[in-house]
Amino acid sequence: MPDHEVIPAFAESVIPHVGTYRRVLPVTLERMYENTLDWEHLPYVHASSFATISCLNSGNWGWRAEVTNPRAAASVIELRLDRNCRRWITRTLSGVNQGSEIWTHAFPIGGDRVDIVVDFFVPEVEPAARAKVGAAYATLYSQLYDEDVAMMVSRQKQLDRRVSAAVETERELKLGSRAELQLPARLSLAGRDYVLVEVGGELAVYPALCPHQLGPLHTARLEFGIVACPWHGYRFDVLTGECVSGQSCRFSQMPQVAERDGEVVVTAVH
Ligand code: FES
Ligand SMILES: [Fe+2]
Repeated sequence: MPDHEVIPAFAESVIPHVGTYRRVLPVTLERMYENTLDWEHLPYVHASSFATISCLNSGNWGWRAEVTNPRAAASVIELRLDRNCRRWITRTLSGVNQGSEIWTHAFPIGGDRVDIVVDFFVPEVEPAARAKVGAAYATLYSQLYDEDVAMMVSRQKQLDRRVSAAVETERELKLGSRAELQLPARLSLAGRDYVLVEVGGELAVYPALCPHQLGPLHTARLEFGIVACPWHGYRFDVLTGECVSGQSCRFSQMPQVAERDGEVVVTAVH
């Protein structure tokens, strides 16, 4: 059975309704709202649709931002979240697709699943062209939700793991001689996962999960001692733990790496 359906346009709407996309997502409503308010992820998680984003205003109500697409075309988008109606409306205020509205309703259906119904309203589309435009939006949203689901499911998994993280692993790891180390290496220390690397001849340990929202830092490429998180692009210097992209976020309580009696030893400090 397909995991989504595309419903044709309504005949009468002030702004022409061109179609509906419907899908059951394996996430909670809480994760959905968090993802909805999270404007920062757009150019990173949805790089094929967004190249840049610059937030103009944001809050619990939603956000407004200037975005560009990969062809450098700009628009201003506003998202308003209405929790009472379990829905959010995304409007394009100016630029590409100005005047279009996307209404998303979310229904929790138990078992940590949400049924979403996304309606696309696009100005000045003739009745004969609506089905085609609606299908194009549905294809786009199918991809956007594939990308969001991967992020939301991964984050939920990490949050659940943290809650049940009674499984304390070693507080000190002896890794043998430095010459024999295969780097980068993943390691678990005091219940947390890290990556051990060499930067300019120095050994450094950094968290496998991003301190911002638990993004998979371990999958990111390390370049000149800097690792960039794939979810929101925060960049960290792995030697100092500082965020070098301007956000107030840093690696905390980093394990210490030392060489003792010819062995590399990593020790937890938290
Ligand atoms: S999870 Fe947001 S930058 Fe890493
Ligand atoms: Fe998204």
